[in-house]
Amino acid sequence: MPRGRTIYRCAECGGTSPRWVGRCPTCSAWSSLAEEVDAPSSRMRPVPAFGGVRAERALPLHEIDAAAVTYRPTGIGELDRVLGGGLVPGSVTLVGGEPGIGKSTLLLQAAAALATAGVRCLVVSAEESAQQVRLRAERLGTLPPKLWLLAETELAAVAGAVEEVGPELLIVDSIQTVHDPEFGSPAGSVTQVRGCAAALSGLAKGRGMACVLVGHVTKDGDLAGPRVLEHLVDTVLSFEGDRHHSLRLLRARKHRFGPTTELGLFEMAEAGLADVPDAGALFLADRRPGVPGSAVVPTLDGHRPLLIELQGLVSESAANFPRRSAQGLDAGRLAMLIAVLHRRADINLSQLDVYALAAGGVRIDEPAADVATALALASSHLDTPLPADVVACGELGLGGELRSVGQMERRLTEAARLGFSRALVPESWTSAPAGIALLRAATLADALALVGISAGDATSGE
Ligand code: TYD
Ligand code: MG
Repeated sequence: MPRGRTIYRCAECGGTSPRWVGRCPTCSAWSSLAEEVDAPSSRMRPVPAFGGVRAERALPLHEIDAAAVTYRPTGIGELDRVLGGGLVPGSVTLVGGEPGIGKSTLLLQAAAALATAGVRCLVVSAEESAQQVRLRAERLGTLPPKLWLLAETELAAVAGAVEEVGPELLIVDSIQTVHDPEFGSPAGSVTQVRGCAAALSGLAKGRGMACVLVGHVTKDGDLAGPRVLEHLVDTVLSFEGDRHHSLRLLRARKHRFGPTTELGLFEMAEAGLADVPDAGALFLADRRPGVPGSAVVPTLDGHRPLLIELQGLVSESAANFPRRSAQGLDAGRLAMLIAVLHRRADINLSQLDVYALAAGGVRIDEPAADVATALALASSHLDTPLPADVVACGELGLGGELRSVGQMERRLTEAARLGFSRALVPESWTSAPAGIALLRAATLADALALVGISAGDATSGE
């Protein structure tokens, strides 16, 4: 077999360079190039190495059956929610997430649930030994006879096992650890990952078998070799969470068979991941109303409303430079809110330590949380609790004005459902769902007055 020449390939984007350079010429990532033998080009094309793709004829678009997609529910409610109903036969799904977040657990549970329902499933563990997987299954309390396991890293062995077992669902954990010596580059390299994923995709499509690939993420949260893999698969899911908390979030980043706006919520417990169909109770369970420095915001993640408690703590600073800490919130946004509080509401925290966090280990990226964050900080600073029945929602402008945010109706309906009776909203918002009274504020100063926190009481901490 002719060997190719040596090239350098970027682990982030798959771009190549004839020489080693410190920075990828394609995507500008630092130190991401690795030496590789440029395989003959036929290997690089995403052609299936095993089985064949069913030969399709071109048809007029209107003759194509739109309802042809069938979803096979996995039985894991939150996973099915994100998948738009379940796994599609013949499709390839990539599940990415940080090590230890629970990818193997989630997929073993899904395979076990399907196998219990009579679907033949094959789990390929290319990272853990067969004993380790068996122990995990025991811990999860499920050992259905239709669940097959192969602890192997070589692609040919995986294809052989598929041939032998004939599964309807194949799980490969992980795509970075399977390899094919034919590709001539080290396991985990872009050539290997892409080549193996393409071969498995061909296998899945040829057999009408659903295939789930587990992928590791790099420190930046990208799947290693992400762009190359994302083209190859039908669905990209990301599994996230804070390892110090039990909450796990599952999102679709790409989905050829449904929307990417659904959010799945799980709790990692002793016996594996449990669905969290009602997030409200989870996020607000430990809240102590009546404590200064706490405000609740109805956030929206995709289409799913989540009520999150924001906490602020302002205290005397022992250092020359006061400390700023933002957990689950953007640090730049926090700095801006501190400035807006100072200049637009006469609450001066500039010489004080300021801590702000989103409770429960979630991350809030939307500006809708601005007002609640500012109120939590003011409440802590003035040692005045917010009324317990109020949620606050709105973006803050640099002029101190409250700005409206999307899908307010949905947010407020969820707040009403969870027992809140008043909502602090931008003045422009006028429609209140049943059970909610609106507190409409044009500015941050108005908002503070409406919840009984008066900047006039401020000692400004100096
Ligand atoms: P794992 O699925 O191995 O993560 P990944 O495949 O993403 O690397 O999950 C690892 C963590 O989950 C580990 O720290 C232990 C925890 N865990 C539980 O808390 N309960 C359980 O029932 C299981 C199986 C794991
Ligand atoms: Mg794992």
